[in-house]
Amino acid sequence: MNLVWITSEAAPYAKTGGLADVCGALPKTLAERGHKVSVIMPYYPQIMKDLTTKTKVRKERLGVPFGWSTEWAQVRGHYINENLSFYFIEYNLYFDRPTLYDYNGVEYGDNASRFIFFSRAAMQAILALELKPNIIHTHDWPSSLCNVYLKTPLYWNFDNFKDCKSVLTIHNIGYQGVFNKSNLLMTGLGWEYFNHTCLEYHDQLNFLKAGLLTADMVNAVSPTYAQEIMRPEYGFTLDRPLHHVSYRGKLRGILNGIDVNEWNPSTDRFIPSKYDRDNMAGKKACKETLQREFGLPLKPKTPLFGIVSRLASQKGIDVFAGMIEDMLYHDDIQVAILGTGDPGLEGQLSELNGKFIEKFSVYIGFSNALSHLIEAGSDFFVIPSRYEPCGLNQMYSMRYGTIPVVRGTGGLEDTVVNYSYENLDKATGFKFYDLTGDALKNTLRWGAQIYREEPENFRKIIYNGMTTDFSWNKTASEYEKMYEDAFK
Ligand code: ADP
Ligand code: GLC
Repeated sequence: MNLVWITSEAAPYAKTGGLADVCGALPKTLAERGHKVSVIMPYYPQIMKDLTTKTKVRKERLGVPFGWSTEWAQVRGHYINENLSFYFIEYNLYFDRPTLYDYNGVEYGDNASRFIFFSRAAMQAILALELKPNIIHTHDWPSSLCNVYLKTPLYWNFDNFKDCKSVLTIHNIGYQGVFNKSNLLMTGLGWEYFNHTCLEYHDQLNFLKAGLLTADMVNAVSPTYAQEIMRPEYGFTLDRPLHHVSYRGKLRGILNGIDVNEWNPSTDRFIPSKYDRDNMAGKKACKETLQREFGLPLKPKTPLFGIVSRLASQKGIDVFAGMIEDMLYHDDIQVAILGTGDPGLEGQLSELNGKFIEKFSVYIGFSNALSHLIEAGSDFFVIPSRYEPCGLNQMYSMRYGTIPVVRGTGGLEDTVVNYSYENLDKATGFKFYDLTGDALKNTLRWGAQIYREEPENFRKIIYNGMTTDFSWNKTASEYEKMYEDAFK
């Protein structure tokens, strides 16, 4: 099939979270499986500096109807192989910024204009590049307006879209792109689209809602999350529209995979010693380097809990921070955290760092290299999420022989098998369900106890995780099936 992916981020070009990992990796797998994939994303010059020489200008002048006028953007291309190309919409007024969506935790005030512009530009780029997609595949709110565009006279008459359906993947329903209705003017759509079956939402615009009601197929990034978002406590007010989508057979849950080449402890360029499931010696050296890098005492026998996370309410790090002090007083443990986001949480973690200098260390910032080192050097990886559409870190952890301790929600529920004496042959981690400090604390202590007192079992849990196949090849066929079903 001819597939056009439209996304606001993709690794390695620009990344704030797992969306980028997915948009970097799954297109590669789909291309290997014989599809022609073009990925369209914004060009962020400050973030993609080293890319400028690798990309070629493919269209110097791309006309983008925007409000009353036409703006002119440029399209760059990065050719990967005959089945895979990345295209970048270059428009500096909106995308030449140090970060993607917000600055110091405050959203850019013009995000509505930025992503309306991007969505419209992506549709125009399909025409200008003479792509003939069978599927337009959008991701989350920043590109979901494209699902709407495809169904309007602005685009449906073009030959390019004659055999084209659209698919929307929900990576996170907590972010919907809700904006003042005055922004409708920018979209080029008339007020007839401002109704409850499309863009209207409590007298505002809601891009994600419009996308999921107009897409031919919709999926969430894990089976459990696909169910959860149809309940009020997880649906962020879109549970009702989602029922409608599901009732028409258009909603599914497809578990994310991971890039097994990028995340591989036997080849990882970011870690000091390589290792694999049959020879784990290198992992000890990684722990030592991690302790050194994070200024923690070199204690090989102390259980080390790692966290790499956006510091957002979704991730439950507030629950962790509220509970961990008690453990830091009483238990022989170490904690290494890498994260950035909510300034309040950043402050709280830094305070703990100052208070428990020998046991608790936090690095506030975004660092790909350190994220790999934490995956490799920790004994446990903690993910106490309030909700988690899929989560990739627990899968990276298992691959690195680092045992995940997770809250059983969304993709965490689907990917981690909780340890008990009865299921030692399958267990890959530790789970808790109540989002309370006590439940989390008990589970961390339980893990630490197995680490100290049952090393045989601990090694078996590690081995189980390291032998589980989380590659994209396993689930890519479900995407292929969804693309086919979009035509039914
Ligand atoms: P989400 O997309 O909700 O943030 P995921 O688990 O799907 O959660 O993906 C998070 C991705 O972002 C992982 O690759 C993780 O390593 C990475 N990541 C998150 N925070 C940081 C950070 N501060 N530095 C480096 N990588 C980070
Ligand atoms: C979102 C979700 C995360 C998921 C990622 C990739 O950012 O929060 O759970 O793994 O998208 O689909």
